[in-house]
Amino acid sequence: MSDSHSDALVFFGATGDLAYKKIFPALQAMVKRGHLNVPVIGVARGSWNLERLRARAQDSLQKNGGLDAAAFEKLSGLLRYVGGEYADAATFEALRKALDGAQRPAFYLAIPPLMFETVVDQLAKSGCAQNARIIVEKPFGHDLASAQELNRCLHRVFPESAIFRIDHYLGKRPVNNVVVFRFANAFVEPFWNRNYIESVQITMAEAFGVEGRGAFYDQTGVIRDVIQNHLFQILSNLAMEAPARTDSESIRDEKVKVLKAIPPVDANSLVRGQFRGYLQEKGVAPDSKVETFAALQLEVDSWRWKGVPFYIRAGKNLPVTSTEVVARFRTPPTVLKNNISQNYMRFRISPEMTIAMGATVMGPSEQMGGEAVEIIASRHPCPEEMDAYERVLGDAMAGDATLFAREDYVEEAWRIVDPVLKAGTPIYPYDKGNWGPGEVEQRVSPQGGWHNPTAAESKNSPLSGKTGSEMEKAQVA
Ligand code: BG6
Repeated sequence: MSDSHSDALVFFGATGDLAYKKIFPALQAMVKRGHLNVPVIGVARGSWNLERLRARAQDSLQKNGGLDAAAFEKLSGLLRYVGGEYADAATFEALRKALDGAQRPAFYLAIPPLMFETVVDQLAKSGCAQNARIIVEKPFGHDLASAQELNRCLHRVFPESAIFRIDHYLGKRPVNNVVVFRFANAFVEPFWNRNYIESVQITMAEAFGVEGRGAFYDQTGVIRDVIQNHLFQILSNLAMEAPARTDSESIRDEKVKVLKAIPPVDANSLVRGQFRGYLQEKGVAPDSKVETFAALQLEVDSWRWKGVPFYIRAGKNLPVTSTEVVARFRTPPTVLKNNISQNYMRFRISPEMTIAMGATVMGPSEQMGGEAVEIIASRHPCPEEMDAYERVLGDAMAGDATLFAREDYVEEAWRIVDPVLKAGTPIYPYDKGNWGPGEVEQRVSPQGGWHNPTAAESKNSPLSGKTGSEMEKAQVA
């Protein structure tokens, strides 16, 4: 472990939902891999004790990915518990003692943003913040002004280099593979620009609803929940220039440049939808105008992308759960006419990772007709050897900021969606299991239409064993 590695991990919100679903599984995985061997202190309001926290961790692991007896035993040995109100100085006095002289602790705020300021101030006052790192969860604010306020609050105590804003999409291997594939292959970059690419579309579909998170979701909506953060990160990876170096700031500089080139979304380039039945969800206002679906068009006014429309679509209760990117190429000036299909690049981000290229080869007939095929560059049924949370927590503790959203990035992302979020655009109903409201096809749709990802693409998927044209129909129809 290097000197700069965090020598203690403190997570606030230890009894909460995020800890239960994501943090304990990530911690167990880190222990198993030999990546975590420092005290792990859970802090929460309420009168729990260490035994109860261990029991909660055990339960969490049994329900979320499985308990590994040896790793859990080690993790139990690392766990500590500090209970108390976040506004109470005594809680932070107890935390300082529990830190037992740690020189570079990492504080993970797995708590609602409303409490950030209180905790950050208390960390400063108690002397715990010195030399420390702070890890915060999305949402980073609700709009541009609140994001700026949140950043000011964190900067009062922590320098930007010590702040790690988690966007778990950045911990996903297929999201990072977009960058590797683009910049490690000589044949990609020459055509990856406005001269060859006609349009780019990103779909994040979820076949489930708000799942008991109605109260949170009704303050959020799909644009704030996943588009402004997760899907903009994918967009940045697709559109960025090659970084000058591989250090975190060189890479993050390039991503910010992409967002800087994007004008705010126009109200006419957005269709918002709400699934029928949303208003009956617990915690949702009976007259809510919050969107559970959105489709929008963006421009990236950079030298590389000027004039190429980027489409983003995301929603709950759609037909499948999958995230996929399709970039369509301009049609070549071919004299061949029969069955010439449009070339495309396809990055499937989840549930499996696929990188594929759509091409035309000569068909089986004697005519000069074509047949559509997909050239699969990479296909992994189970891409997440390391879960996204495990990866980002490990990186934050190691002090590597590459996979975290920088202050300027977060603020640029809000600048793009903030005006349209406040414009009160119409909201159209859609039935569960549909690809959003019908207005999408008429108003915000790429040339050639939206590509609807399929649910599964493993070896056993219905796609395997099909001919090129059957696959083409199944995948890009
Ligand atoms: C979260 C959103 O950030 O990402 C959820 O709050 C969404 O609404 C989730 O379902 C999707 O993450 P993943 O990793 O399952 O694609």
